[in-house]
Amino acid sequence: MSQWNADNIRADFPILADRAGKRKLIYLDNAATTQKPAAVIDSVSEYYRKHNANVHRGVHFLSLEATQMMEEARLAVKEFINAKSADEIIFTRGTTESINLVASSFGKSLAKDDEIIVGEMEHHSNIVPWQMTAEEHKAKIKVLPFDQSGELMLDLLPQLITPHTRIIALTHVSNVLGTINDIKKVIDLAHSLRIPVLIDGAQGIAHTKVDVQALDCDFYCFSGHKIYAPMGIGVLYGKKERLETLPPYQGGGEMIKQVKFSGTSYNDLPYRFEAGTPDVAGILGLKAALDYVSKISIERIAAIEDELLDYTTAQLQSIDGLRLIGTAKRKSAVISFVINGLHPFDVGTLLDMEGVAVRTGHHCAQPVMEHFDIVGTLRASFAMYNTKAEADSLIAALKKAIAMLK
Ligand code: ALA
Repeated sequence: MSQWNADNIRADFPILADRAGKRKLIYLDNAATTQKPAAVIDSVSEYYRKHNANVHRGVHFLSLEATQMMEEARLAVKEFINAKSADEIIFTRGTTESINLVASSFGKSLAKDDEIIVGEMEHHSNIVPWQMTAEEHKAKIKVLPFDQSGELMLDLLPQLITPHTRIIALTHVSNVLGTINDIKKVIDLAHSLRIPVLIDGAQGIAHTKVDVQALDCDFYCFSGHKIYAPMGIGVLYGKKERLETLPPYQGGGEMIKQVKFSGTSYNDLPYRFEAGTPDVAGILGLKAALDYVSKISIERIAAIEDELLDYTTAQLQSIDGLRLIGTAKRKSAVISFVINGLHPFDVGTLLDMEGVAVRTGHHCAQPVMEHFDIVGTLRASFAMYNTKAEADSLIAALKKAIAMLK
């Protein structure tokens, strides 16, 4: 781990140095969004300085060059998640749009009383699109619960599945509980009954090795900004044979073969799902981010984060009145907690005054709050550039905040 420890990695992230000497920044809100390495920032500005043109639309060299760069980025995503073909990689604005695309397009094949299974620990992005689709097609939502430690109750899944079950949508990693779900087990069971599975990979992609062929999932959705890429760019991976059966999501330029007033024919994959001018700069930023992560390796990143997870969890447990929300056996470096008698917002505000940035609230997962009968949590979430010294600062700031508020 000599070359790639967190201290060396920090130098690659301009915001961490640029803030130094101004207002202290201990950034522990990585589950909300990660900071960007210089390689990503530079790739975006390079694109606009040297290569900007619309893609797939011109004969001029700049357009051809931008098109080639974008398609190379698609190949890089394909390699990163080990998809079978670049045609299976659809660029979207993020996980939310990827899930909405599937819920809307796949949803068109739903009939009355069909059933969709989602997890109780899902982010609203993997609940609401399905509710909207269910409402439209008179289908039903069924919920796979989790236990008090935050682990999915997988033994209940066979009972939830019926001949009406049409799709299962689950998160890879919980953005509140940190639980790393055994999605492979779910996928294998679902496939034995010919039920497709969509995985929300928003929190999974940056912390665990994702191999969509090994997982055999039908859809895997993720956002660039959770893995050090710009905001506003995301990916929908779909098995080719699945995507080919889905009607287009949005209509517009580039998603067609021929448009006539008498009828329009649609383009091949992946363009059929990419109506309108794409965020080429964001796509190139995503490629730069995936190259950066690959150079270090996701395993090494996970090792740095796991060490921080264990270290910080142990220290938090020693604080009186603090309760961890999410104690599953397999966790990624997301730690939610509440403190007896204190509102998370008040504690979070005091932490901010000490330069410690955490998220507070329901984390767009209100059913998780309901499960634990709480209004919200504080949440510290780590990335590869965080250090034990920062974890110490969190603990010290927390103790100070508790002393002030109690
Ligand atoms: N989904 C993001 C989070 O958990 C925004 O903070």
